[in-house]
Amino acid sequence: MAHDKSSILQPLLLSGFLFLLGRNVALGQSTAQSARFGNWYSRNAVDGDPGVPDSTNSEFEETCTHTPSSSPDGWWTVTLSNAAAVFRIVIYNKRQPSRSDCCEDRLIGFTLEAYTQKTIRVFTYTDPNPTAQEIYTVIVPANITDPINRIIISNSEVSLILTLCEVLLFGETVCPSGKFGLECKRDCNCEDRQESCFVSTGGCPSGCAAGYTGEDCYTPCSRGFYGVDCNRTCSEHCTGNGNNCRADTGHCTGGCEAGYIPPLCDDQCPEKTFGQDCKENCSSTCRDGLCHHETGVCDQCPPGYIGDFCDQVCSVYMFGDGCSQNCSFHCLDQLCNHQTGICHNCTMDRKGEYCEVDIFAVQSGEGGDDSAVIGAVVGTILGVIIVTIIVIFFVWRHRRNCSDDKQKVKQSWTKNSNRETPVTTSASSSAPTLPLRPNAKAKTDYTDFKDSSLLYRQPVQVFQNGGNVISLFRHGD
Ligand SMILES: *[C@@H]1O[C@H](CO)[C@@H](O)[C@H](O)[C@H]1NC(C)=O
Ligand SMILES: *[C@@H]1O[C@H](CO)[C@@H](O)[C@H](O)[C@H]1NC(C)=O
Ligand SMILES: *[C@@H]1O[C@H](CO)[C@@H](O)[C@H](O)[C@H]1NC(C)=O
Ligand SMILES: *[C@@H]1O[C@H](CO)[C@@H](O)[C@H](O)[C@H]1NC(C)=O
Ligand SMILES: *[C@@H]1O[C@H](CO)[C@@H](O)[C@H](O)[C@H]1NC(C)=O
Repeated sequence: MAHDKSSILQPLLLSGFLFLLGRNVALGQSTAQSARFGNWYSRNAVDGDPGVPDSTNSEFEETCTHTPSSSPDGWWTVTLSNAAAVFRIVIYNKRQPSRSDCCEDRLIGFTLEAYTQKTIRVFTYTDPNPTAQEIYTVIVPANITDPINRIIISNSEVSLILTLCEVLLFGETVCPSGKFGLECKRDCNCEDRQESCFVSTGGCPSGCAAGYTGEDCYTPCSRGFYGVDCNRTCSEHCTGNGNNCRADTGHCTGGCEAGYIPPLCDDQCPEKTFGQDCKENCSSTCRDGLCHHETGVCDQCPPGYIGDFCDQVCSVYMFGDGCSQNCSFHCLDQLCNHQTGICHNCTMDRKGEYCEVDIFAVQSGEGGDDSAVIGAVVGTILGVIIVTIIVIFFVWRHRRNCSDDKQKVKQSWTKNSNRETPVTTSASSSAPTLPLRPNAKAKTDYTDFKDSSLLYRQPVQVFQNGGNVISLFRHGD
């Protein structure tokens, strides 16, 4: 059907979009008429199309109603699926301004009745106009507050036929609290849950509840978004095929990835916990009990330990943070405590916890008080040993000399046996003729000679030697 746009624009606009005027609650509702002529169905009066003025009869037949003249008490009715507060009724006649012979005058003097709960009549209107109108507008009095669910239009005695091209009931569907829509089957989704939404649109004075968007607050947030205005994103740590969370709360529908706190999965596990739902405790072997929130791998190990969970001690020869330090060379076999580096034992020349003290370092002026004392003791011992060696050497030499002397003395004595005075010279002026043992002592001489000549103890000669008086005894003849 080719309709003139401007003529159908008005009812279409009025049928849904102009809120202040209400919307056409009759549109598409259930209808009936006393009898039908041809294809002039009763539903044609609520099809949203009032027909174009001066259309052909067959065109009107598609969009208007018609009772047969054989049934003169014609009526037409519409029943609303949900009661509505109707405040204005508009009726479109079969508009044929260029024809005076047919058919606008069929509506002259019509009667309109409004019912509540289908049976209680709350309002009656009778057309007072003596002449036909193309469009009738009926204002429902303001004191009619009961919701209306049925309208009946009847023709007057003026006409045998009832023809209607469109009936519009402007008003608001009255839905139970929390419901909206033509059928009142949709739930309101207002942020303020106590509040009822606009019945026509579903919109809410307080705005849409979290998880819903759109003018009707009926469209869920698109996938991956949640919250008021759907402007928050689901956590990337929700499990499943990503960003899967409840549109209202943002709770991940499949739980969190390991390492994140449910139900939002935005934050990492609290300190010292890790894993699925943060239910695992970090290993007590981790330094300070801190570990990676997902894997539980220790952040750091205490000194002396390595491994993801710090459960391995350092290899021998190593110690400390990350087992990165070598035991001292001065530790016996380079073995030390894996945590502290303290040597088990020192090599022979070392002492101290870390065998850091060189026992002989005192000679080079190193070392503390201890090493000085040790150095002194060692030095003394060395000194004593050296002195002893020297003494032994001299004693040995003395013995050798002694046996030489005895022979020389013997020879000399034999040679000078007839002389009454000893062959002597002043000790200061001339060298003695007899061999002397410098520094020899008298007592020593006794001892030295005891093996052979203790029988003769008179000194036979006395020599002065560097202030020492030396007595010589003559061996027994
Ligand atoms: C509504 O007001 C009219 C007068 O304006 C009165 O005649 C009618 O009885 C009233 N109807 C109701 C239901 O109060
Ligand atoms: C989401 O919208 C609310 C209210 O409109 C606003 O306060 C908030 O900052 C928005 N958040 C983001 C992440 O855009
Ligand atoms: C973790 O530690 C807490 C207290 O420190 C303890 O109550 C809980 O049972 C531990 N959980 C596991 C899985 O060992
Ligand atoms: C440990 O000893 C090895 C050779 O034995 C050497 O290469 C390394 O540098 C040493 N490390 C440290 C920290 O001294
Ligand atoms: C190391 O010293 C301890 C005593 O401190 C001793 O029992 C152990 O046998 C020593 N080890 C070696 C290899 O000398």
